[in-house]
Amino acid sequence: MPSPRRTHDTYFRRAKAEGFLARSAYKLIEIDEKFRILGSARSVVDLGCAPGSWLQVASMRAASQARILGIDLKPVQHDLGPRVHTIVGDATRLDCTALPVQPPFDVVLSDMAPNTSGAGDDLRSATLCREVLTLLPTLLRPGGSLVMKILEGEQTPEVLSETRAVFAQARMFKPRASRDVSREMFVIGRGYRPGAKR
Ligand SMILES: C[S@@+](CC[C@H](N)C(=O)[O-])C[C@H]1O[C@@H](n2cnc3c(N)ncnc32)[C@H](O)[C@@H]1O
Repeated sequence: MPSPRRTHDTYFRRAKAEGFLARSAYKLIEIDEKFRILGSARSVVDLGCAPGSWLQVASMRAASQARILGIDLKPVQHDLGPRVHTIVGDATRLDCTALPVQPPFDVVLSDMAPNTSGAGDDLRSATLCREVLTLLPTLLRPGGSLVMKILEGEQTPEVLSETRAVFAQARMFKPRASRDVSREMFVIGRGYRPGAKR
């Protein structure tokens, strides 16, 4: 009988076989194949980066000289090569003067999720997304791109329209690698316009 959570699904097994630190790698690969976000990036910041599979994907797909910074409440346990720097901390309370790679970045990734507790997760996720949008004037260069996870809920349309207000294009996307039972979606923003009003 299949286990209800199917933790050892195809993507989980593929991640093990291909050396990715988490199955989430395939979500970013699919997003990048569809939206072409990483290929020309010379700098990438990944908010909520542990255990590190998006850092692996960014390192594989960004420009060869790209510098990549990951930030998480938890440490990344693996050495991901000389281009990838990681720091432990709360991404919503960044001291940008102390970062090992200085903003602005070409791409901001956020796979941050609240500790799932059931009721209210979608609201906490929307709050995290708004915190990411608030950081963009400091973190993202004009014309840059955003990939941001959100747990779908009543605030999702508003978060999308707040993202649309500051990007030339913004839309929602659910990769195949995202579990059907999960409410996670990704907000994709391209062509950041820092002066625009949210
Ligand atoms: C789904 S995991 C990220 C997985 C990662 N993209 C990967 O592929 O390996 C979400 C991460 O967000 C982190 N996180 C949540 N809130 C955060 C915050 N305020 N600041 C930094 N990290 C945060 C959690 O510690 C957790 O490691």
